[in-house]
Parts: sequence; C-alpha cells; structure tokens
Amino acid sequence: MSHSPFQADTLKNQVALITGGGSGICLGVVRSLGLHGAKVAIMGRNLEKLQQACSELEQQNIDCYAVQGDVRDPELCQNAIDQTIKHFGGLNILVNGAAGNFLCAPEDLSPNGFKTVIDIDLCGTFNMCHFAYPHLKGQGLILNISATLHYTGTPFQLHVSAAKAGIDALTLNLATEWGADGIRVCGIAPGPIGDTEGMKRLAPPQILEQVKESVPLKRFGSVEDIGIAAVFLASSAAHYITGETLVVDGGQWASKPAMIPKELVKQMSQANRKK
Ligand code: COA
Repeated sequence: MSHSPFQADTLKNQVALITGGGSGICLGVVRSLGLHGAKVAIMGRNLEKLQQACSELEQQNIDCYAVQGDVRDPELCQNAIDQTIKHFGGLNILVNGAAGNFLCAPEDLSPNGFKTVIDIDLCGTFNMCHFAYPHLKGQGLILNISATLHYTGTPFQLHVSAAKAGIDALTLNLATEWGADGIRVCGIAPGPIGDTEGMKRLAPPQILEQVKESVPLKRFGSVEDIGIAAVFLASSAAHYITGETLVVDGGQWASKPAMIPKELVKQMSQANRKK
C-alpha cells in the first residue's frame, strides 16, 4: 500500500471474488483490495497455488479464502460463487482475471488453440458474470481485466486480442444492461507490468530494456499500480463510472515510433516559425 492515497478501510464490509487471483497481476489486485479492507476469495485451477497465495495474504492480515475451479466450467463458476457467499456472507465485487496466453502466429494456431483462449478469457468472464448477477444486484461491481493488444494489431496475439475485444464488449454491454440493477461494470487494461508471468511469457529478457524505453513514462508498471486502479474503481470515488475500461499502461499503447525523427520535426518547426 506504499503509494495508496486510499484509507485502509475504503472497502470495509466488501466481499470480492477474483478469478485467476492466485498469481501475477490478479494476485496484486487481490492484495490491494484486501489491504483496503475487502474480504477476498480467489478462484483458480491449482488449489495448491491458491492456498499458498492465501497464506501469504493472511500474513498481511487479509481475510482470504481459496476455491478451486475452472472458469470454462459453468458448474464450477456457480460453485465458486456459492462457496464465497457461504464463507463470507455475500458478494459485492467480481474481478474476472483468469486468462490464458501464449505467442502463436495465426497460421500455426490450431482451431482448438484459438478456442481455448476464447473459452478461458471471454466465455469464462461471461460465465462468472452470469452466475454472479443475482448476488451483485443492489450495489455491485464487475471488474474485467482486459489488455491493450487489440487497440492495434499485435503480432502473434490474434487469439488473445479477439478474446479481450470480446471482454471489452461485455464490459460495455453489461454496464448498460445491468446499470439499473445497481451493478457497475468496468475494466482495467494493464500495460507492461514488471515481474509477472505474462511478461516472462511474452517478452524475452534481452529486449526488456527496449520495451521499457517504448513506454512514455520510461518504466514498467507494478502489480500495485493495477491493484490501486482496482481499489479506485471499487471505491465510492468511482460510483458514477461504469462501462469504462481504464488503461493503466504508462502511455505505452498510444505511443508509436515517430514517422519523422523528433530532431528533424524540431528543425522543421523552428524553420517554419514566424519571424
Ligand atoms: N502455441 C500454440 N498452441 C498452443 C500453445 C502454444 N504455446 N499452448 C497451447 N496450445 C494449443 C494446444 O496445442 C491445444 O490445441 P490442439 O488440441 O489443437 O493441440 C490447445 O491450445 C489447448 O491446449 P491445452 O494445453 O490442452 O490447454 P489447457 O487448458 O491445459 O491450457 C493454456 C490453457 C493453453 C492457455 C495454457 O497456456 C494455460 O493454462 N495458461 C494459464 C496461464 C496463463 O496463460 N496465464 C496468462 C498470463 S499472461
């Protein structure tokens, strides 16, 4: 909570269920929500990994509960929601973070490879939203973890781009469909976040410095940067925000290599300046 401007009780009495919460960016979201007073349930396929995350979180006095499940299986989604409610007495925040990713050229990607990522990311997000809906009615938040890959063409990421574009469509549509039920639906699109499995999978160590240089803020984000964004969106400060996917990427996706080198543009602007 080193750079959090929020009070430690900002999310007191809130129960959050985070899919994919056992590691990476989503574990950072879990930690931030927990450090701001939320009770947190984490769902994932690997129970051992979830239990290890829980015991680390408990050392920080976070009330944590692990429930095993695969978001591709509707019955397991319903079960995770039921177990969370049984354990903590309710559900206020659903964070859809479970995702699958690997690099693959479209021509090499098998139909089942494409379907697998769509099933985890997009169908998994829908499944969880669908079963959480009756419990979130009144005053609830759905937070979908997206990406910026699909804002442009991203090599070897067709499958994930398609899935995340679909997730953004769910965010927009559910916000309009469920707003009258008191449910806000938002997203977070993280940029390059250091020391995560995603970064290891997608960027080889020898180009990390180059990736960092491509970020206008000249640094990688931290899992805490994403966690704090989640706390903001879950807090009363965001109570009129819905349908919005917040990009937290240090300006990375919006920047592109200059068509004309900056020095040359500078010279041109000086030459064109009115005397
Ligand atoms: N390149 C190309 N195709 C791949 C692949 C790769 N690196 N990894 C998996 N696939 C294909 C498989 O070949 C298979 O297709 P096929 O039946 O036509 O051969 C299909 O994807 C399913 O693979 P499988 O390993 O059976 O799926 P799974 O459900 O066990 O695993 C994944 C899901 C593939 C997304 C796996 O990477 C995973 O579990 N990831 C979770 C962690 C993660 O990705 N986190 C994201 C951090 S950014």
